[in-house]
Amino acid sequence: MKSLFRMGSKKAPTESKDGKSGSSSGRRLSAVSTKEMNDLNKALEGLYAKYKDGKGITAAGLTTFCKECSLIDAKLTEAEVTLAFAKVKLGKSKTLNFDRFQEACRAMANTKGVTYQNIVQLATDQELNLDEEATDHFDVEAGLGMDRKSKKKLTVEDFDLLKVLGKGGFGKVMLVKLKSDSKGELLAMKSLRKAALIKRKQLEHTETERKIAQTIQHPFLVNLRYAFQTVDKLYLVLDYMGGGEIFFWLQKQRRFSKNRVRLYMAQMTLALEALHSQDIVYRDLKSENTLLDLNGNLRLTDFGLAKENVKANTGAATFCGTPEYLAPEVLQNLGHGKGVDWWAMGTLCYEMIHGLPPFYDQNMQRMYQNILEEKLAWKGPLATPEHEDTREILAGLLCRQPEQRLGGGSEGSNDIKAHRFFASLDFDKVLAKEYTPEFVPPIAHDGDVSNFDKEFTTQKAADSVVTTTLDQKDIDSTKFEGFTFTTGAEHMK
Ligand code: ADE
Repeated sequence: MKSLFRMGSKKAPTESKDGKSGSSSGRRLSAVSTKEMNDLNKALEGLYAKYKDGKGITAAGLTTFCKECSLIDAKLTEAEVTLAFAKVKLGKSKTLNFDRFQEACRAMANTKGVTYQNIVQLATDQELNLDEEATDHFDVEAGLGMDRKSKKKLTVEDFDLLKVLGKGGFGKVMLVKLKSDSKGELLAMKSLRKAALIKRKQLEHTETERKIAQTIQHPFLVNLRYAFQTVDKLYLVLDYMGGGEIFFWLQKQRRFSKNRVRLYMAQMTLALEALHSQDIVYRDLKSENTLLDLNGNLRLTDFGLAKENVKANTGAATFCGTPEYLAPEVLQNLGHGKGVDWWAMGTLCYEMIHGLPPFYDQNMQRMYQNILEEKLAWKGPLATPEHEDTREILAGLLCRQPEQRLGGGSEGSNDIKAHRFFASLDFDKVLAKEYTPEFVPPIAHDGDVSNFDKEFTTQKAADSVVTTTLDQKDIDSTKFEGFTFTTGAEHMK
């Protein structure tokens, strides 16, 4: 599945590639395939028709469009939108034709690391009338689910909804507690709106996520505890990771120490090794999907982009992932395999030490060009003698030829684990969590959500009614076997 979340604002200023201070990307959505991009452009055409006034879109129309899709204030200022309009307007024309409108969207996207995809997705959400805020006060139309332990059917009403942890185009993640659980274990409930998933053709990804999260139980992967659905929504109830995302900590602390990164890398290696051993490629390793528990140990989440049955180095073909972390073979459409995860791990390692990914550029096309051609340069702490072995493992992981990449040989992850960068760690002890993480996420009390973005945690935690109706064919096609299903009426019996 595409990342659930929309972009957040990057708080800590970071050094851009040209040395200027500026914000790097905010919360990053996964890149899209050419086909999905065509769908996005089609959606934008519909929006163009809606905001068009006479021959095209006026400056006021563009501002209204941006206000209605929550781009202004949250992401951009009105002045930036006006500037984008002025930049792409041709000659004396006072309105934007479709091409110019599209160009304006791209210009706005390049301003602050908001992607073109984000803009279109936010706007189409609005079109779908799926804004959660507007419907939060309605009663919950709960479906039934199955508590696999007690064999009791579950509904959203069986959970106390405590806090919002994250929100995005498809739905949201909330901190919840099963009411019947006397121990009061905290869990994370991810709810996804089927209409939004259908619109973006993401239903299959959600099913993949459910299957993988349910099948593979591992100390460094977020496990699925329950899955259920209503006519309108899918619910995934997961282990709660109270330490928040690595993304959140990188924003706050900018860089991590070598020891800290080493343990994260070791834990990630074991998590990816477990997925690869089942011929699953994760394909969405990034700081947003790397969560910490309250002891500071890490787990990977969000398996929506994962691909099963990938045996060879070229077993997968879809262009997917998140721009910063895309391996060269994905960009070149050469077919890809497990190696893309090792490339992404190298990218994330570099980012955790330096503060920015190795080939970062605010302009996505330039970043892609860098990934394909730019010489790997050692910046900030990475240039110091302390990081000699880090440079070596990074050069191995960020090797552009997947077969020669560290982890890409016949020994797979064993070559990574044997690298001198990990010499101070025993991987059996890593697996048993016998090392005390250097950084322990602070919490003041049980259920303290201060390790999550305030943008979300200050919102009211509630399930919401979906206002969009699904066609019968969509209702049928979204009845997933792995999610228990019922109609609202059944629940009333
Ligand atoms: N955000 C997404 N998944 C999460 C989880 N399992 N725990 C905490 N926050 C999350």
